[in-house]
Amino acid sequence: MKHLVLMGFMGSGKSTIGKMLEKRTGLSYADTDLLIEEKEARSIEEIFRDEGEEYFRNAETTVLEELLKRKDRMIISLGGGTALNEKNRKMLKNNGGTVFLKISPLEACKRLKGDQKRPLLRTADPEKRIEKLIKVRNPIYQAAADYVLEETGKTPEDICREILDWLNISEEEKTQ
Ligand code: S3P
Repeated sequence: MKHLVLMGFMGSGKSTIGKMLEKRTGLSYADTDLLIEEKEARSIEEIFRDEGEEYFRNAETTVLEELLKRKDRMIISLGGGTALNEKNRKMLKNNGGTVFLKISPLEACKRLKGDQKRPLLRTADPEKRIEKLIKVRNPIYQAAADYVLEETGKTPEDICREILDWLNISEEEKTQ
């Protein structure tokens, strides 16, 4: 495994968990959404508005490619749509350390209620959109993941511990 990658739906806590793991492990942390915003010097909302979704998706692939190439091991959190692209999934498979943070539609709706920053949720019925997207995306996340972590009933602390345990086990397996 090169890098530890956090994947999952919007609101699944990829950034929160990524930052917690950064503190625990001392590894550096990167967030693909933030890197795109920095590179473009504008927000994701503005990128979607001015250039359209395809442009954003291409930027996502470029940033992911650059990050995965870095030599020092990192913790990387993806955007919720990054794993939908086949090229991105292939890159993730070769990396070997992708954790799917699995959130229930109900919890996603709770956490994303009133969200103004995510262009895909700007619709008359965001809850319906969330449910539909999760239904389509979960099998894709699942197929791209090296480890599936069910978040229901777990605290961020539990989630961090579970990821670190999995990391240790997979490192041990490699050395055996
Ligand atoms: C998206 C998720 C967002 C961001 C963009 C598109 C998606 O990231 O990349 O709004 O397609 O699910 P988060 O998952 O960090 O919210």
